[in-house]
Amino acid sequence: MKGLSAFLLLLLCFQRAKTDETPASAASATAETAGRPNIIIILADDMGFDDVSFRGGREFLTPNIDALAFHGRILDRLYAPAMCTPSRGALLSGRYPIHTGTQHFVISNEEPWGLTLNATLMPEIFQQAGYSTNLIGKWHLGFSRPEYTPTRRGFDYHYGYWGAYIDYYQRRSKMPARNYSLGYDFRRNMELECRDRGVYVTDLLTNEAERVIREREGQEQPLFLVLSHLATHTANEDDPLQAPEEEIRKFAYIKDPNRRKYAAMVSKLDQSVGRIVSALNSTGQLENSIVIFYSDNGAPSVGMFANTGSNWPLRGQKNTPWEGGVRVAGAIWSAQLQARGNIFTQPIYVADWLPSLAHAAGIGLPHTLELDGIDLWPQLAGPVDAPHVPREILHILDDEWRVTSFQMGHWKYINGTTSAGQYDQVLTYRELDDLDPRESRYVVTVRNSPTSRALARHDIRRMTQQRVMTLRRSAAVRCGDLQRGCNPLVEECVYDIWDDPCEKNNLVYSTRHSEVLAALRQRVQMLREGASAPGNRQGIRRSDPTLHKCTWDVFEVEKPALAPVECNYHGSPCE
Ligand SMILES: *[C@@H]1O[C@H](CO)[C@@H](O)[C@H](O)[C@H]1NC(C)=O
Ligand SMILES: *[C@@H]1O[C@H](CO)[C@@H](O)[C@H](O)[C@H]1NC(C)=O
Ligand SMILES: *[C@@H]1O[C@H](CO)[C@@H](O)[C@H](O)[C@H]1NC(C)=O
Ligand SMILES: *[C@@H]1O[C@H](CO)[C@@H](O)[C@H](O)[C@H]1NC(C)=O
Repeated sequence: MKGLSAFLLLLLCFQRAKTDETPASAASATAETAGRPNIIIILADDMGFDDVSFRGGREFLTPNIDALAFHGRILDRLYAPAMCTPSRGALLSGRYPIHTGTQHFVISNEEPWGLTLNATLMPEIFQQAGYSTNLIGKWHLGFSRPEYTPTRRGFDYHYGYWGAYIDYYQRRSKMPARNYSLGYDFRRNMELECRDRGVYVTDLLTNEAERVIREREGQEQPLFLVLSHLATHTANEDDPLQAPEEEIRKFAYIKDPNRRKYAAMVSKLDQSVGRIVSALNSTGQLENSIVIFYSDNGAPSVGMFANTGSNWPLRGQKNTPWEGGVRVAGAIWSAQLQARGNIFTQPIYVADWLPSLAHAAGIGLPHTLELDGIDLWPQLAGPVDAPHVPREILHILDDEWRVTSFQMGHWKYINGTTSAGQYDQVLTYRELDDLDPRESRYVVTVRNSPTSRALARHDIRRMTQQRVMTLRRSAAVRCGDLQRGCNPLVEECVYDIWDDPCEKNNLVYSTRHSEVLAALRQRVQMLREGASAPGNRQGIRRSDPTLHKCTWDVFEVEKPALAPVECNYHGSPCE
């Protein structure tokens, strides 16, 4: 073994700080629920890093999301696993995907597995603490057995779909594995929900979230709500990008017809944020709420499930080890945040939400949870100059595909890549010709959004034109020049991700960084030794929707009691 360098000592401190962050008191779990904050997490699916306009994108505006960010805090370095299942698993368990068996790819609907039942999930913790726990929209953490499904994992209520994606109107899905048929996937709790078919699903899920919010008006029991949108994931392969015609028409100035549809999908999602914040306001619950918006991973700009989303200027995309896969668009607002109207630069990982939000709610967590996430509530809610907590984030450790992506402090380590490296570059550019006509009145547009109108009452300082413009400029990512490239298929890559957010200068051959490299390798090796086996299983015939009245249903075991209602398909349901 090498002598302990200062760097390794620092590494040990990271681990120490992590354990100490977790509040130990279990007693508070029984405390009064009154006065506890409502938690509202609005999740986008596969939305790109640059598909929000708060960093300066002008192709199409997202006034509500921008308002949430400007009145609250831009989550500048919010990181998530690069795909849906691991990202949602990390959010709900507070653990790295290597600790829940979700580190390799995702759960396709025909596969008999789910997020390990070993993990205690955030909704279980909030449910036990007296919260009303609700999931509206996508699950994607397994449904082959009833015990994998959301209402068996801490959600009092689920309205939405169990699988990977659905059609935006018909709520059916066909998996990429060709020999499984099209199946209906939409439920209220365990039962099929066939009403309101044909309603655009972004609106439908928002309607339901509004209903849940209104139902809580005047109640003491606090609300935990995850609104997990389909937008902006693609629907089935034969009609991947879908939005209402009248919404698409608003973006007629965008030349690329696919990008035009995508802009409409984002716009609907943005409106959803406005409606949720307004519903919280008009029911008197906003003041006591924490509202978080973010995308589960980077956009797939090209290739499988490509939606034209843009992670510019970051390299890579969904399912790659680069920043474009793991650094995601996000914002938080709460009247409890001391510092609002600024950029939160502390690196934060989606597994941090569990301990951070538990802290905000005064819920003590037992050490037996073995969280990888750390409690950043003091940093989120504290003063603007709160010192950064040093930390590591394991983005990917997938030994099936031989990909590692890991960051510790300022350093990022990549070894191996996905898809033979074909998505390792910057895959999009910022459109400068097709400009949103509202851009010339950007600040007014943001201020007139329902979100801004509701949040402005709680401002500490007025959101002036100047402040918005300064924030928007400061939030832009600045890349350095290409100095030394890296091909992760044949060499390791090390970047100073703080100064080189666009991963353009490989430091692996710099002798000044040899200790850094050694420490990164050593920590990856330690994490590898503690990894569980990936839970992935081959698809099985028994899952096929034709065997379940044309629906995606529990298929590993006989389903108890309730026979599913038959959905009245138009045309042939399971071609
Ligand atoms: C879950 O627990 C079982 C039994 O204790 C163990 O064998 C398995 O590895 C665990 N799975 C994960 C993903 O941690
Ligand atoms: C917010 O709620 C208050 C109280 O119900 C209401 O008076 C006000 O009009 C609402 N503001 C917006 C912008 O919805
Ligand atoms: C980097 O990847 C190569 C190829 O998969 C592997 O042999 C090597 O052990 C990896 N290095 C580390 C430190 O994980
Ligand atoms: C799917 O089809 C392929 C060949 O087309 C076959 O090899 C495979 O066994 C099928 N899988 C199932 C689960 O039926």
